[in-house]
Amino acid sequence: MKKILALVLAVMMMVVAAGCGGGGDQAKSSGSGASSGGKQITMGFSQIGAESEWRTANTESIKQAAQDAGINLQFSDAQQKQENQIKAIRSFIAQGVDIIAFVPIVETGWDTVLKEAKDANIPVIVVDRDVKVADDSLYVAKIGTDSVTEGKNVFKWIDEYMGKENKKPRDGGSQYNVVILEGTVGSSVAIRRNEGFKDAMAASPNASKYNILASQTGEFTRQKGQEVMESFLKSYGDKIDILYAHNDDMALGAIQAIEAAGMKPGKDITIISIDGVKGMFQAMIEGKSNCTVECNPLQGPLLMETAKKILNGEKVDKLVYVDEGIFPADVAEKTLPERKY
Ligand code: AHR
Repeated sequence: MKKILALVLAVMMMVVAAGCGGGGDQAKSSGSGASSGGKQITMGFSQIGAESEWRTANTESIKQAAQDAGINLQFSDAQQKQENQIKAIRSFIAQGVDIIAFVPIVETGWDTVLKEAKDANIPVIVVDRDVKVADDSLYVAKIGTDSVTEGKNVFKWIDEYMGKENKKPRDGGSQYNVVILEGTVGSSVAIRRNEGFKDAMAASPNASKYNILASQTGEFTRQKGQEVMESFLKSYGDKIDILYAHNDDMALGAIQAIEAAGMKPGKDITIISIDGVKGMFQAMIEGKSNCTVECNPLQGPLLMETAKKILNGEKVDKLVYVDEGIFPADVAEKTLPERKY
């Protein structure tokens, strides 16, 4: 009898223990939402590289958010090459990851590889930049920033500022001469930031006050921004009134070139750029730049939340933009301590 009772007790204890274990797994899957069909979610993520302060913040946001969400992130750095991104996506498909996310370095050339992901039943999320594909069903969602609006905001801010400050063209003429440092050739951000700026200019009653003197890629890097600005200064010297840089890093490089040429950045040449990184806030505090239009890199949490929803079979918005602001130099000192990147 004693033996039977001991056996019954042992069986009961095993059942309780198994129940606790099951509860733990359950908590992991529904509580963190990081599992798909009972197993941990694996996301393959192809980043374009580390060309700017902004990109570093974007990568950190994605890695941190994956960790917080309990998602296993397979991270791949494409070193600025589309072919490396295509290879990475193909390797994610071969591994059978649950979901793929990527930042497209350029807008076109993705149809074939995205079709391969679709055929393998792996959903794809486009992050930060846009893709141009013949069939929009090749990706489930796009999370990022609105580059056209960023470009429009740049022109609107400049136009208001030049009027308010009563700035006179440096060459004594009737137009402000603008030079533009563009981002990576073929990238949606470079194309749309130009488009937004030019559309806003064309629609403005002040359009005739502006002349785009030169526009060239600085590849979103500080070094190239400096080199291209040096060549602008050699060709146009004292004629330049305004520098519009598609990102803060190129503007920071250009500031060095302007100083080396014996001019005062932010005074002789009015400078506006896009991103809102801490380095640019510091430059504005020092009076070397005039405004930054924010492009928010903190896209990780939204990406992970969207991935979980997709894998849970929930409907998600096809296009989601993150919030962004405009920060002129006069708010830089007050704002810098609150900046997260
Ligand atoms: O795609 C976003 C752009 O890429 C950012 O403006 C720039 O800094 C980055 O490298």
